[in-house]
Amino acid sequence: MDGFQKRLSESLQLRLSVALSLAILLVALLAGVFAFVSAIDEAHEMQDESLRHVAVLFDRQHMTLRYPAGEHVAGDDEESRIIVQYLADSHLAVGNDDSVIPLPFPTTLADGLTTLNIAGEDFRALVRTTATGERIVVAQEIGVRNKEARESAWRSLLPFMILFPVLLLLVSDLVRKLFRPIASLSAEIDQRDKQALHPIDEQHLPTEIRPFVVAINRLLARVAQSMENQRRFIADAAHELRSPMTALSLQAERLAATELPAPARERLLPLSRGIERSRQLIDQLLALAAAQSSPERALTRVSVHQIYRRVLEDLLPQAERKSIDIGVEGDEDVQLTVNEMDLLILVKNLADNAIRYTPAGGRVDLSVERTAASIVLQVRDSGPGISAEEQARVFDPFYRSMGTDESGSGLGLSIVKAIAERMGAQVRLGFTDEAAHSGLCVSVLLKADSTS
Ligand SMILES: Nc1ncnc2c1ncn2[C@@H]1O[C@H](COP(=O)(O)OP(=O)(O)OP(=O)(O)O)[C@@H](O)[C@H]1O
Ligand SMILES: [Mg+2]
Repeated sequence: MDGFQKRLSESLQLRLSVALSLAILLVALLAGVFAFVSAIDEAHEMQDESLRHVAVLFDRQHMTLRYPAGEHVAGDDEESRIIVQYLADSHLAVGNDDSVIPLPFPTTLADGLTTLNIAGEDFRALVRTTATGERIVVAQEIGVRNKEARESAWRSLLPFMILFPVLLLLVSDLVRKLFRPIASLSAEIDQRDKQALHPIDEQHLPTEIRPFVVAINRLLARVAQSMENQRRFIADAAHELRSPMTALSLQAERLAATELPAPARERLLPLSRGIERSRQLIDQLLALAAAQSSPERALTRVSVHQIYRRVLEDLLPQAERKSIDIGVEGDEDVQLTVNEMDLLILVKNLADNAIRYTPAGGRVDLSVERTAASIVLQVRDSGPGISAEEQARVFDPFYRSMGTDESGSGLGLSIVKAIAERMGAQVRLGFTDEAAHSGLCVSVLLKADSTS
């Protein structure tokens, strides 16, 4: 009960359903009582009318009576029978048994309808003086009349009994339909990506929830603005750090070119590496800020193989240092309509990871394939791959797997994801060798219309 009350206080839909059901129940009850009472009244009136008809018929047809004196008239309709007798014959009544006529009606009864008790039984009786001057009494047992009236009254309640559950079902269905826009609205918001802060379309919503949605849209706009400010701050900070870092790296290079004592040269090496790592971090931060910012980018027709070649030119020295066999697989090229810089950065980050995390002597393959529904760009390596548990986390900024000797900022895959989202592409991680669970295979799926 407590649970129901809690749900009732929390759910507007449940409250509306319960309130409407109670209102229907109350109206049905009142209408039922009214119908029941008036059906009983009507039945009684009709029964009085039948008494009158019998009396009139008896009078018009000039009927005469013959009593089955001393005989029982008990039969199958004994209960509902209408008794007709001359009022003057009441004194002929035998015993107190009302199944024997004539019955002992008081001879002083006035013409018209009356209710009276004869031999312990209540009767409704109509006294009439006929055209021949005789006074007749037409009577019926009250108990029988009431039973018949009640039966007919119950019959009059039948439509209410059928309509009530139908109405309840209709109301609950109607309420559910009325609240459907809210359910579909929350489903739409739930399905959104965390970066999708565009306003909710309020045009087709009921006016009652529109102000709420307008307020949510204003909040979304404020959140989007504050995220944009944050991004800009990071981009500005990275930009500002770039010049002193370049200067530092230049100084370190110059220092390396001078005569230095052996211990100083030994210490210069980690210093230069640190400066280089910081430069890479700043470059990645700038790339991420650019990938996440919203301005429209110029779209051009780009050959995927050409992008691959440019990336290979950049990364070949790195691959050669580790004796990694890197190359493009397949001859079929695909032309895409995308921002060239975006695609270049995306492929470069994936290829850079593949070379970096694949042990020396390994293999890295870049490929592009067109299927009926999409275009799939793949970067496969023969390294250790990423375990299924970690696959979702590696896209988080600054996330780096434990146990790798390679240096890195942990931003590469975040940049890939941001660029893919902007392109309307999906990034999937898998294994190059599914059976052995080894080697990372990154697939970037673009819609087929990206080629047009
Ligand atoms: N090809 C791969 N094979 C194995 N692990 C990988 C591969 N690519 C990425 N990872 C794992 O995912 C983590 C996140 O990669 P990500 O590219 O985002 O960052 P990073 O390479 O560490 O730094 P950055 O790319 O910014 O220099 C890496 O630290 C690495 O552990
Ligand atoms: Mg990386």
